[in-house]
Amino acid sequence: MAYQRHFFVCTTQRPPFGKPSCGAQGSAAIVAALVAELDERPELAGTVAVATSSCLGPCFDGPTVVVYPEGTWYTGVKPEDVPEIGEQHMAGGEPVARLRNASLSAAPK
Ligand code: FES
Repeated sequence: MAYQRHFFVCTTQRPPFGKPSCGAQGSAAIVAALVAELDERPELAGTVAVATSSCLGPCFDGPTVVVYPEGTWYTGVKPEDVPEIGEQHMAGGEPVARLRNASLSAAPK
C-alpha cells in the first residue's frame, strides 16, 4: 500500500504581534479535526496521511493546509470546514471547491 495523499497543516506559532501565524490562528484544532476524520475512516490507513508543517507561505490567510500530490491549497480553514474536507477530499479524492484557494492551487484536472 502506498500513500496517495498527504494533508500538511502549518503549525507555525509566532508571538501575537507582527506577522500572523497559523498556530496563532487555530491550526492545532485543524490538525486534531483532520486526524479525527482520518481515524473515522480506517480504510484510508496507509493511503492518506495528516502531517504538520512549518510555515507554508500564506501566513496572513491561515490556517493553511496544502494537499499533495495534487497541490490543493486551503486557507482560512475553520474546524467546521473539516468534516466536508474529510468526506469529500480525504475519502472521495475531490478537493472542496468552495474552500480551495484557487490562486495558490494547481489547476484542477
Ligand atoms: S505561518 Fe502558516 S503559512 Fe506561514
